[in-house]
Amino acid sequence: MDSALPTTQPKTGDAKSSRRETLTITDNRTGKTYEVPITHDTIHANDLRKIKVDDGDFGMMSYDPAYSNTASCISRVTYIDGDRGILRYRGYPIEELAEKSTYLETAYLLLRGELPTAAQLKEWQYHVLHHTYIHESIKKFLDGFHYDAHPMGMLISTIAGLSTFYPDAKHIFDAESRKKQTYRLIGKMPTIAAFAYRHTLGMPYVYPDNQLNYTGNFLNMLFRTSETSYQPNPTLERALDVLFILHADHEQNCSTNTIRGVGSSHVDPFSASAAATAALYGPLHGGANEEALRMLMEIGSVQKVPEFIKRVKAGEVRLMGFGHRIYKNYDPRARIIKKIAYEVFELMGKNPLLEIALECERIALEDEYFVKRKLYPNVDFYTGLIYQSMGFPMTMFPVLFAIPRMSGWIAQWEEMLLDAEQKIARPRQVYLGYDTRSYVPLEQRA
Ligand code: ACO
Repeated sequence: MDSALPTTQPKTGDAKSSRRETLTITDNRTGKTYEVPITHDTIHANDLRKIKVDDGDFGMMSYDPAYSNTASCISRVTYIDGDRGILRYRGYPIEELAEKSTYLETAYLLLRGELPTAAQLKEWQYHVLHHTYIHESIKKFLDGFHYDAHPMGMLISTIAGLSTFYPDAKHIFDAESRKKQTYRLIGKMPTIAAFAYRHTLGMPYVYPDNQLNYTGNFLNMLFRTSETSYQPNPTLERALDVLFILHADHEQNCSTNTIRGVGSSHVDPFSASAAATAALYGPLHGGANEEALRMLMEIGSVQKVPEFIKRVKAGEVRLMGFGHRIYKNYDPRARIIKKIAYEVFELMGKNPLLEIALECERIALEDEYFVKRKLYPNVDFYTGLIYQSMGFPMTMFPVLFAIPRMSGWIAQWEEMLLDAEQKIARPRQVYLGYDTRSYVPLEQRA
């Protein structure tokens, strides 16, 4: 984008014929007028720096805690229209991908920009599935965790630990190296997750079975006991695969912003994705599925829902799994997830917490508090119920979110690296602390 040039030119002519893609700003402190270019309905924040009271002035900044109205990048990966409840990966609607694609094919789409041909898909699947093994030393490393360590903590540290096993990952501007780390990261996520799960149970680790597909192999590593060959249930395998598709990317959310920010220091992708996984762990982000289920258990019965909603409205607690920074409409993923929930319940039996969840949703969608704030169920509201019915403990829920999100993180990380406009991420601050003060010796302090 061009820089804004201060102009004192009078603005003339009729609005339609002389429509200019610019914004005119008048600084009432000085009376000066500035014309700032508009590109894609956006002005460049640096153009504001021209707005100064005098030459010694630093220039104007915009203040945007939590980046709620700041575009930090130009992206071509994922599109969301939060008001209309639209989510698309590389232009393809999430509903179509959930119905027709597989997780690995969707991951390829996110990373490479196009759906693969049959040959490309075969090659891609081969490479990912042949990078599922982890170094034997990582097993020892996992053994060091306490039996009740949260699997997200184990996942974060193990992903970070991978950077020590693959020092070649430092060559981030080598396309071949990036490809290899991508196979490793996407391939090893289910293995680390499953090993962390087995560790908490004190059960022996199950090695990857490359004859199974990505999701089937994950179920094998999680749940296989004494079978000589494990055959995953096709309904559960497909349900998990669709959940993986739905969680694969979500544009500039907290963890994606983290991988872009940390990656902008040019650290290796294992370290950057460990940071993104840590961001996802938080209860306001990927940890919300675990919190949503805990909340449903705490509510305990349908009769107690109105009382709980009262507490939410009084600001005492949040209705976990509700609300979203971007969606001010039903989260399109939640709609698909609700459908999957019924398919899983048909096989595994209805989750008794479902009635409580449906009652929370029913009341919230009618209640003025939620309607006014446009709070709808998000992706995390129903996933916990499905995961619980599939036999996962609550602590594994955010891990199940992290596995597929790796493809989105890497796609966004690579886009950031190859974007000539990007630099090390380094926001400004508005400093309101003390001006200079002199050091007070200890004995003179009150
Ligand atoms: N329950 C009750 N009230 C809520 C909720 C909720 N879940 N979410 C937002 N609100 C209220 C806020 O109190 C606020 O009300 P106010 O205007 O009277 O102060 C208003 O709605 C706006 O909320 P903000 O917190 O400003 O919205 P923001 O965009 O910052 O937060 C967030 C989005 C973090 C997702 C929030 O809705 C939330 O905490 N939800 C619960 C946690 C959750 O489900 N997170 C998962 C999100 S999806 C994901 O990350 C994968």
